[in-house]
This record gives sequence, structure tokens and C-alpha cells, in this order.
Amino acid sequence: MRVAVIGATGHIGSFLVPRLVAAGHEVIALSRGAREPYVRQPAWDRVRRIAVDRAAEDRAGVFGARIAALHADAVVDLLCFTTDSAAQLLAALRGSETLLLHCGTIWVHGHATVVPATEESPRNAFGEYGIAKAAIEKLLIDDARAGGVRSAVLHPGHISGPGWAVVNPAGNLDLRVWEKLAAGEPLVLPNFGLETVHHVHADDVAQAFERALAAGDAAVGESFHVVSDGALTLRGFAESVAGWFGRGANLAFAPFEEFAALAGEEHAAITLDHIGHSPSVSNAKARSVLGFTPRYSSLAAAAEAVRWLAGNGQIAVPEMRTFPAPGEA
Ligand SMILES: NC(=O)c1ccc[n+]([C@@H]2O[C@H](COP(=O)([O-])OP(=O)(O)OC[C@H]3O[C@@H](n4cnc5c(N)ncnc54)[C@H](OP(=O)(O)O)[C@@H]3O)[C@@H](O)[C@H]2O)c1
Repeated sequence: MRVAVIGATGHIGSFLVPRLVAAGHEVIALSRGAREPYVRQPAWDRVRRIAVDRAAEDRAGVFGARIAALHADAVVDLLCFTTDSAAQLLAALRGSETLLLHCGTIWVHGHATVVPATEESPRNAFGEYGIAKAAIEKLLIDDARAGGVRSAVLHPGHISGPGWAVVNPAGNLDLRVWEKLAAGEPLVLPNFGLETVHHVHADDVAQAFERALAAGDAAVGESFHVVSDGALTLRGFAESVAGWFGRGANLAFAPFEEFAALAGEEHAAITLDHIGHSPSVSNAKARSVLGFTPRYSSLAAAAEAVRWLAGNGQIAVPEMRTFPAPGEA
């Protein structure tokens, strides 16, 4: 297939593009060209790169037509955040047989009632980002189910992997949290530490997109959660991380406002966003319909990220003694 990947050099694209090339697809990778993939692989030499600013072309009303002109069998849209942007692409692809795979987020659920939430669970999205993603999902799925553009929506959890700061046991991106746990220093968690985060390794997200591409009609008109097999409580996550370094976690718990004063405004805002959602979602539908088989548990995905952060001088921690590898819980 000819596959166009919009936003191709980020967390997902870095793993997806080489997978698609290896599977024999002709890949067209679109990005502004401001950055290179997290992992540089020879496969990129066989990819057609197009430098484009999607936001600017969306505003000019020409981005949809640019994508349609590629005559791709499939478009993987990793960079769509508004219904206007989605509608422009839909209009441009109308009448074609192109499969449109949109990247959503598990935050379309907002807060859950029954966990793990399924794709059929209510959409209680809050915050500009989650609300917009829920509206895009509805637009695409309704259209596909009415016989319009062949679309499917994949909702990743917190995307983790080697090369960037991933969500830590305090529910934010503060690199000091890993260092404190590794050193056995005191760490304060919000509330009782029982709110949840739900990670997924970037390569598992890439696997899900690759499988959705192969699934074709079975995926059309459907949404899929793309997450590891289980969410983590902050407390359990912290205890596990300390254990990687041969330590017990030195934890204290405080009401959110107290935690926020200690964590600082920026980190506290990110924690609030994460624990306000406290995601715990099921990947059963992706497993059964797409054949999605995540290689990484949440802890294995986080461990790989921590190893990379340590190996690249972003955190100062001792050697990890034991940590879960891909395929381990
Ligand atoms: N990160 C998460 O934990 C998470 C969780 C759930 C869902 N998601 C969803 O995942 C998708 C993002 O995927 P990602 O995390 O792989 O992305 P990412 O790491 O943020 O990378 C963004 C990609 O898009 C390109 N890009 C950014 N702005 C652009 C523009 N104006 N025009 C053209 N290209 C542009 C970037 O390259 P250049 O900078 O070179 O242009 C890069 O290739 C989004 O739909 C998001 O809602 C993310």
C-alpha cells in the first residue's frame, strides 16, 4: 500500500514508519522537518519525506487537497487536533477508497464509571484537548458508519519509550521523581496514591496502527484503545520503580493542594490533568479485532524510558538491578 503518515517523526512515527517500510509499504512521511525520528533506522532512506506545516496549510484550506493528491491507500493522521482540521481531510478524501486512521487519545473518556473503560463507555471528556478529540472521533466514526470515508480511530494511552520524558509515578514529567525513587529519598504523592495512569509503549502504538492498516474493513467505523494490559496506581508505580534500584519507596501522601505546593506549578498542573482523568482502559477490542498484542507492560515501557534517560545523562541514578523487560509484567 501507499501510506501517508502525517506527523511522521514523533513518538509514534519513529516506530511506525520503519515498521511500514519493513512490511513492504510505500511510505510518504509528512512533517515540518524540524526534527528527526527518535530512533534513526536505515528504513528512513526508503521513505519519501515531505516538509509541510499542517497548521498553516489547514488555515489556508489547502492541506486536505495536498493529502488527497498523494492518492494514498491509507492515511495515518497523527496530527489532528480540531474538528475543522478533521473535516477538511474528510472532505478531501470523500469518494476515495483511502483508509483514514486517526490518532485519538484515551482522554476522550474524561472520568470513567466502570473500569477498565471500553470503547463503548461514555465520553465524559473535559479540557480543550480531550473535548476536541472526542468531537473528532464522533465526526469520523459517524461519517464512516454512514458509508462515508473509511475511517478508524486509535486511542493511545501515555506514550512511552526511549528518547523522551514519560509520565512518572507522581503523574507528571519531573525527572527528579525518578532520581528520588532511585535514591530512596522521600517522595510525596497526591491523595492516597491510588489514582491511575495508563501507559503504552510507542512501538506498541505503532504495532496497532500497522495492524489496523491490515485489518482494513474490520477496523472501519470503529474506535480502539491502544494501551498496555493494565493501568498503574501512582503508589504501586512508585514502589515498583524504587524496586528496580533495590530500594523500598520512601513515600508520603498529601492532599492535592499540599502536593502541588511541593511539586511546583508546572508539574502539579500536569499531575492534576493525569489524575483528574485517572485512566484505566481495556485493550480487549484491539486485541480481538485487530490482533493487537502489546509487547510492553506499563512498567516495562516506563523502565525502558528510564534506562534511556539514565544512559543519556538526563537523570542521575545508579544502575537498575531488576526491571521488567518487554513481554514481562
Ligand atoms: N504523547 C502522548 O502521550 C499521547 C497520548 C495519547 C494520544 N496522543 C496523540 O498522539 C498524536 C501525536 O503523536 P506523537 O506523540 O507521535 O507526536 P509528537 O511526538 O508530538 O510528534 C509530532 C510530529 O508531528 C510533526 N509536526 C508537529 N507540528 C507540525 C506541523 N504544524 N506540521 C507538520 N508536522 C508537524 C513533528 O515533526 P516536526 O516538528 O518536524 O514538524 C513530528 O513528526 C496526537 O494525535 C496526540 O493527540 C499522544
